[in-house]
Amino acid sequence: MTSMISMKEFAERRRKLMDRMAPDSIAILPAAPERVRNRDVLHPFRQDSDFQYLTGFGEPEAVLVLIPGREHGEVVLFCKERNPEKELWDGFLVGQEGAIERYGMDDAFPISDIDDILPGMIEGRSRVYYPLGKDHAFDNRVMDWVKVIRSKVRAGAHPPGEFVALEHLLHDMRLYKSAAEVKVMAKAGQISAEAHCRAMKRARRGGYEYNLEAELIHTFMEHGARSTAYPSIVGGGANGCILHYIENSAPLKDGDLVLIDAGCELECYASDITRTFPVSGRFSPEQKALYEVVLAAQYAAIDAVRPGNHWNHPHEAALKVLTQGLIDLGLLSGSLEDAIASEAYKPFFMHRTGHWLGLDVHDVGDYKVGDAWRELEPGMALTVEPGLYIAPDNANVDAKWRGIGIRIEDDVVVTKEGCRVLTGDVPKTIAEIEALMAD
Ligand code: GLY
Ligand code: MN
Ligand code: MN
Repeated sequence: MTSMISMKEFAERRRKLMDRMAPDSIAILPAAPERVRNRDVLHPFRQDSDFQYLTGFGEPEAVLVLIPGREHGEVVLFCKERNPEKELWDGFLVGQEGAIERYGMDDAFPISDIDDILPGMIEGRSRVYYPLGKDHAFDNRVMDWVKVIRSKVRAGAHPPGEFVALEHLLHDMRLYKSAAEVKVMAKAGQISAEAHCRAMKRARRGGYEYNLEAELIHTFMEHGARSTAYPSIVGGGANGCILHYIENSAPLKDGDLVLIDAGCELECYASDITRTFPVSGRFSPEQKALYEVVLAAQYAAIDAVRPGNHWNHPHEAALKVLTQGLIDLGLLSGSLEDAIASEAYKPFFMHRTGHWLGLDVHDVGDYKVGDAWRELEPGMALTVEPGLYIAPDNANVDAKWRGIGIRIEDDVVVTKEGCRVLTGDVPKTIAEIEALMAD
C-alpha cells in the first residue's frame, strides 16, 4: 500500500475528531459494503469516503470505533481475520496485526467478534456518534448493540441516551483540504487534464462518443487511477445539452461540438473537468460566439474564488456574464437586471456554477451557515463550471443556435490570495483548442 496521505495524517484526523467529540462519547463508523453487480460478480470495491478519510484502510467488512479517553486504546478497528486459504482466492488481507502495525490502530479485533465486544465498549458512554440514517441495516445493528446493554441495566449497565449524526463534525473537517490532500487532488487533476487532451486529439478521426471515452479511461488507467470519479459524460451535438448524458454511444459528427465531463479518482479523491470542442477541430461562428461567453463567465467566476467572498459569489459573477452574453447575442431581450431577477436565463443555464470537491465528487460540507452563504477559506476545494445549453427544440431562438451545449469546468482550491486552478493543463481558449487539435 502506497499512499500520498501519511499514516500520521490519518492519525491526526482521528485525534482532531476525538477532540471535537463530547466527553463520554463513542464514534462508530462502518466500511462500505461490497455490492453485487450480477449473480456472483461484485462491483469493484470503493471504500466509504468517511471511513477512508479516517483510516486509509481499503477493505470491506470493517468498523472503526473511536473511544476518546479509553485507557486500553482510543482507536479500535474491527476487520477481517487473516486466512491463508481465503487469501489464496480473494487476495491479501491486512488482519488485526497489520491494522495496528501498518494503520496505527491502538487495538484491533476480528469483525466476527464485534457483537460480543462492541456493546461493552459502548456501555458507560452517554453519546454515540454514527452515520445515523445512512443505512438501515447499520442503524439496526447499532440499536441491537444498544439493546444488549439495555438488557443489563438491572446489573448496573449504563446504556447511552444520545445518538448523534457523525457527519456534522466529520464533514466540516473534510471541507478543509490539507497540503497532502491538495497534492493528491492536483495529481488527479493533471491525469484528467492529460486524458481530455488525448480525447480532443482523437476526435478529428470521428467514430463514436465511446471512442473518446476509451481515450479517457486509457489515460486514467495508465497513471494508476483505476476508476473514474463518476460516469464519464461524452455528448456530441445536442447530447451536450443533456446534463447527465452517459449513454456515450452516438456517432460523432463533423460540424458538431462534443462536451466531455470526466475525471479520474486517485486514492479516492475526485477530479472533475469539462471541456467542449469541435469534432472537426474548428469552431463555427455560432459555436465560437457562445463559447466565448461561457469562457468569459468561467474566468469571472474563478476570479471570484478568494477568501472573504462567499460561496455564491462565483455563481453570481458567472450568471452576470452568461446573461449579458445571451442578451448581446439576441437569445434574450430586456435588461440584465430584469433577465436575472426573472430568471430568464434558466432555459439556457439551469445548474449552479460549482460544488465542493474532495473524496466525493459532490463533496460534503455545508454551503450555508444558518441563512448566510458560507465564506470561502483557504483549503476549500470546489469546481467552477458555468455552461450554456440551447435545447434543440427551443422555438424561441434562431435555428442556428439550437442544439449547442457548452460547459467549461475546472477544479480550484482556495488559497490565501485567491485560488489555485488544479486542472489548468488542458486547453480552454478557442485558439489553444484549435491548435491542439490541428497538431
Ligand atoms: N460531473 C459532475 C459535475 O460536474 O457536477
Ligand atoms: Mn462538477
Ligand atoms: Mn463535471
